[in-house]
Amino acid sequence: MIDVDGQKRAAGEAAAALVETGMIVGLGTGSTAVWFVRALAARKLNIIGVPTSKATEELAAGLGIRIGELGETRTIDLTVDGADEIGPGLSLIKGGGAALLREKLVWEASSRCVVIADAAKRVKTLGKFLLPIEVVAYGHKTTALRICDALAEFDLGVAPMLRRRDGEPVKTDGGNLIYDAACGRIEEPAALAAALKSVTGVVEHGLFLDLADLALVGGPDGVMEFEP
Ligand code: 5RP
Repeated sequence: MIDVDGQKRAAGEAAAALVETGMIVGLGTGSTAVWFVRALAARKLNIIGVPTSKATEELAAGLGIRIGELGETRTIDLTVDGADEIGPGLSLIKGGGAALLREKLVWEASSRCVVIADAAKRVKTLGKFLLPIEVVAYGHKTTALRICDALAEFDLGVAPMLRRRDGEPVKTDGGNLIYDAACGRIEEPAALAAALKSVTGVVEHGLFLDLADLALVGGPDGVMEFEP
């Protein structure tokens, strides 16, 4: 029986096996992505990695992976990243590590996106995990009220909470703030995504829809593959 960390590791290693020499590879963020980056570095392929956070950049560069910036390279061939929830059709919640904006920018620039996770991340309906929403710092309390109104339209009458660490608001790599919304059940993810994007001050949200091409999910007995 493989424990949770072993499941993450197995998924990361399976994803690293998909990388071929010469590729431009998007490097995700989080504890599962760390296993991927380590396994990828160990293969010593001639690739360029495009990190989705400063933390991943530091890790990858330290392990000898050549680093490229988004936009500097041609299209990204393959991005591998973790997720907080994997729902139907490989709809995802991401952003638990506060890297959702850079992650989405890299995912959207990629020809293929592979999500890696442990089995507990699979859900029938998205929303049990808090939905991260990245907002600009200026006027964020007003933005939070407008997010509240947007959520209420979907009967998600919850007040989003400003994410804090050690009592201080968490700042993203881009200097923005994160609000987390306890949605419970997100029945209409696409409509909710559009409503959140229409709020001025919202930079991005953690719903990743129609982006993942493959999920590699570590389970108690090995890695399972899922397609949308
Ligand atoms: C960071 C993310 C991560 O991919 C997500 O939080 C999963 O993390 P972990 O692999 O540590 O469970 O979206 O913004």
